[in-house]
Amino acid sequence: MSEPQPISVSEYHAAARERLPKPAYDYYAGGSWDEITLDENERVYDRLRLHYRVMRDVSKRDLSTTLLGRPVSMPLVIAPTAFQGMAHESGECATAGAASDAGTVMIASTLSNKPIEEITAATDGDVWFQLYVYRDRGVSRALVARAVDAGCKALVLTVDVPGLGVRERDVRNRFQLPEGLSMGNLTAGMGGMPDNLDGSALAAYVGCMFDPSLSWPDLDWLRSLSDLPVLVKGVVHADDARLAIEHGAAGIIVSNHGGRQLDTAPATLDVLPEIAEAVDGRAALLIDGGVRRGTDILKAVALGADAVAIGRPALWGLAVGGRAGVADVLRILRTELDAAMAMCGVTRIDQLGRELVR
Ligand code: FNR
Ligand code: LAC
Repeated sequence: MSEPQPISVSEYHAAARERLPKPAYDYYAGGSWDEITLDENERVYDRLRLHYRVMRDVSKRDLSTTLLGRPVSMPLVIAPTAFQGMAHESGECATAGAASDAGTVMIASTLSNKPIEEITAATDGDVWFQLYVYRDRGVSRALVARAVDAGCKALVLTVDVPGLGVRERDVRNRFQLPEGLSMGNLTAGMGGMPDNLDGSALAAYVGCMFDPSLSWPDLDWLRSLSDLPVLVKGVVHADDARLAIEHGAAGIIVSNHGGRQLDTAPATLDVLPEIAEAVDGRAALLIDGGVRRGTDILKAVALGADAVAIGRPALWGLAVGGRAGVADVLRILRTELDAAMAMCGVTRIDQLGRELVR
């Protein structure tokens, strides 16, 4: 008997869990230490209520908006997640294709299994390149040059990984890339994942390769490497949002890395209003962490985000159905957002305001 088609993100999650080998599932699903922030990212959406309006002619609705001056079909993009080859052999290429089919952006990770050139070649849509800064700055320079040549439309500097969060599931599983998968962007100086370790090979890799000295002047340096706009990902404090803008960030992604870095960090939605106030329209404002329903997207936009990004939901779609699975997850979230807007008495994204959410 064939399994029924999943109809929600949580059903995709359950179906992906069935299909994936345990170490891959745990790497995707897990968070750091007690996974309190991981859980809280989702729960905070559930606690807010939608104070909807009626009798407002919602017969015609438009979900489209713009990010960095370019159109997107809805305020939803795909967050960068590493090692998508563990979910599907087409990995990041499938995700990029699904994002462009849906009229939105995919952010490709430094730690993709497919090279950035193959990812951008697999799609007509916009791809942004997420950058980790290595101790060897030549690596970052080379990666930025490749991202520019590959046609990426923006750089996303991730700033919340001075070392990898301790994900105890990965420590137990001695997490390692499965046979046959490697880092797709391998560039001189990037090294590879160490073997035969008593713990997470990724944690060991990050510990010796990523640069914990990263500080605000490095953002100016990164901006000098290309003409691409730079977004700063991993901000949960209004003062850091202000500093990012002072150093020329074109966008901020409010993120706690999906609860994978500092456990007991605040849920992203809880800090969004104060960060929106600090940013005050001076930069694009995105948020990720815990978005699982169309109502979650609506709440984040109402509280000041220009768009949300999804990490794990795209991985669940990828694991279940490759490109079609990711496309279906995007379709589900879009349909839910559309229905929620109608029931809120709203027909355009710019009508979503704070008065809706309490
Ligand atoms: C991530 N995230 C991440 N972020 C980043 O900047 N570079 C990366 O390579 C990765 N890799 C990664 C792998 C996996 C398996 C996950 C789950 C997450 C963080 C990601 O971009 C995003 O912040 C969170 O995934 C958002 O939370 P949700 O949507 O997964 O709840
Ligand atoms: C992670 C890193 C790679 O969250 O960003 O696993």
